[in-house]
Amino acid sequence: MTDLAELFEIAAAENSSHQKIQIRCCTAAGCMSSGSLAVKEQLEAEIKAKNLGDRLEVVPVGCMKLCGFAPLVDVSENTCFQEVTPAVAADIVNAALGEQPSPALELCDRQAPFFALQKPIVLENSGKIDPERIEAYIARGGYRQLHQVLEDMTPTEVVAEITQSGLRGRGGGGYPTGLKWATVAKMPGDQKYIICNADEGDPGAFMDRAVLESDPHRILEGMAIAGYAVGANHGYIYIRAEYPLAIAHLEKAIKQAKSKGLLGSQIFNCPFNFTIDIRIGAGAFVCGEETALIASIEGKRGTPKPRPPYPAQSGLWGHPTLINNVETYANIVPIIREGADWFSSIGTEKSKGTKVFALTGKVKNNGLIEVPMGTPVRQIVEQMGGGIPDGGTVKSVQTGGPSGGCIPAAFLDTPIEYDSLLKLGTMMGSGGMIVMDESTSMVDVAKFYMEFCQCESCGKCIPCRAGTVQMSDLLSKLLKGEAEPQDIELLESLCYMVKEASLCGLGQSAPNPILSTLRYFRPEYEALVGRSHR
Ligand SMILES: Cc1cc2nc3c(=O)[nH]c(=O)nc-3n(C[C@H](O)[C@H](O)[C@H](O)COP(=O)(O)O)c2cc1C
Ligand code: SF4
Ligand code: FES
Repeated sequence: MTDLAELFEIAAAENSSHQKIQIRCCTAAGCMSSGSLAVKEQLEAEIKAKNLGDRLEVVPVGCMKLCGFAPLVDVSENTCFQEVTPAVAADIVNAALGEQPSPALELCDRQAPFFALQKPIVLENSGKIDPERIEAYIARGGYRQLHQVLEDMTPTEVVAEITQSGLRGRGGGGYPTGLKWATVAKMPGDQKYIICNADEGDPGAFMDRAVLESDPHRILEGMAIAGYAVGANHGYIYIRAEYPLAIAHLEKAIKQAKSKGLLGSQIFNCPFNFTIDIRIGAGAFVCGEETALIASIEGKRGTPKPRPPYPAQSGLWGHPTLINNVETYANIVPIIREGADWFSSIGTEKSKGTKVFALTGKVKNNGLIEVPMGTPVRQIVEQMGGGIPDGGTVKSVQTGGPSGGCIPAAFLDTPIEYDSLLKLGTMMGSGGMIVMDESTSMVDVAKFYMEFCQCESCGKCIPCRAGTVQMSDLLSKLLKGEAEPQDIELLESLCYMVKEASLCGLGQSAPNPILSTLRYFRPEYEALVGRSHR
């Protein structure tokens, strides 16, 4: 690849190679596990049997967002079917040809709030393109922003654009991305690294997996732009082994980008070289913590180190390292394409852009949503999510996974942004959002997350190693009805001790689900005290 004209040629060839009517079949992990590959095969067989290959084609695409009603297939922007089976393949083909959809097909309402209130930026290609074909990405404008920065911008200008956009890290902490890039860019030395954190260990979270499965080139392009901006020539994607489809798509994408000269040496004939390798993790939650992740890439045991030094100063093999989350990188291309001012006009004063959430739990519409920062939690749960099935009432919404907390129903009008959620005693986290109804025991919820942290604690420091066991034991005692009144105070003081004294974010935030449920649902804890003695 030498210039922009070649990208345009590929895009034109791709656009003219398709049939007029496309049937898009979601083959991302959610739909695949519900049988979408069999649906795709049957659709192809129908087209072949009816000799319709010159009018119709089946395109495998990434996540179409409403994963709870998998598998999904669409035949146009507005006509989408849910919970499809191979048995309705002929009906889908007829609908694609313009016939009235048969009653055997279940329509998925693309005008419903679940879709209508979304603002796809990160997910703009998801469910639209075949993630296994670089040509499909290029036809949607892919790799033009890499060309733009290499041709028209200095690295300093790229860092300034990201800083001005107000983008904050989507991996949970919300650290300003531009500031992190500027720190790495300013560090002396020729050897620097880029890391994409695709560990995604929070229970209930699958946003990053969906982005990687659905639009892997977007991440490669974002990482290459980051490499140019900070002066790094090599990147790693750290991803858990439990994500085989995302890994396969990434491997293919890297190979394709290399073969087109979009990764490698002298990209677009510019003096910029950039390569990317994948490192597969074994699925330990702590390996998502940046210093543990770096140790794991280095081939060491994945345990955290004290910071400073931060990875930006001394990271992989002691070199300055930029580590960002998948969704953070997914925002880079649109920021460069549309400009920092466009991005910062979306969202709130301190939380810019959109956020992708994996909406799950006791809610009608389970799936992926991307909404502008500042969207009220109520709008997400009640309008987009459709509320609790069978007319139940929302008791609480959990965000931030094992590091977060529960938003009680009384605070559902809170806008989704970093600071408002922290004030409520929870956090944005990476994007897991679990809805709970009145039947949920909040002490059970606290116990679930504490057991998770206890299992995932790496054991390096005593407050977390021993504290998570003790907190978990106290919760068990409460749930068995064997606790005494002072046990609640003991639990609370343990929470503060573990938060204060733990080495890394896992231990520092592990008590959050207990503290947040104690803050809003204390009577549930008190009602359990001494129950077995009554
Ligand atoms: C226990 C623990 C697990 C983490 N897991 C992840 C993860 O799976 N993905 C992620 O991007 N960040 C995770 N983080 C945050 C990372 O350490 C780091 O802050 C993040 O990757 C930086 O990217 P960002 O600035 O784009 O958010 C985790 C932190 C802790 C303490
Ligand atoms: S806080 Fe927990 S996970 Fe973090 S280093 Fe200490 S023992 Fe390991
Ligand atoms: S995986 Fe198919 S809709 Fe999400």
